[in-house]
Amino acid sequence: MAIINLNVNGKTLSVDVDPSTPLLWVLRDHLNLVGTKFGCGMAQCGACTVHLNGNAIRSCTLPVSSVKTNAIVTIEGLSEKGDHPLQQAWEELDVSQCGYCQAGQIMSAAALLKRNPKPTDQDIDNAMSGNICRCGTHVRIRKAIHLAAKKSKK
Ligand code: FES
Ligand code: FES
Repeated sequence: MAIINLNVNGKTLSVDVDPSTPLLWVLRDHLNLVGTKFGCGMAQCGACTVHLNGNAIRSCTLPVSSVKTNAIVTIEGLSEKGDHPLQQAWEELDVSQCGYCQAGQIMSAAALLKRNPKPTDQDIDNAMSGNICRCGTHVRIRKAIHLAAKKSKK
């Protein structure tokens, strides 16, 4: 075990964990940030997506020891009141079905909009291809990303 300091959602937090523990389990089990989900554990489904220095990454395969001082943002830290343009668009278009994959979808979409504020369908499909939805919400997700892009420009 080791004490590890992390920068999560703008706060410095300490955890006492095995340094090889994947970031996902530190977020869920030690910091109670349970919006980030476990799907495959093999970087294949995107359910565990968070931001590391603004980039979408799979937290299920990243050892917490390798995070160091890099800024982590989870779905809980994406906006103060759950009112990020993507969250508004998701609600407006009723994107979620069972909801399990959606935090990961929104985090991938947020990273996309940051680097590409006006993505095409193809840009969206490329950026979101690693986020699987078993409920088949991909068409609504694409629409919601376009809507959020419009909202962000206002
Ligand atoms: S749980 Fe991390 S990619 Fe599936
Ligand atoms: S909404 Fe059910 S898995 Fe995506």
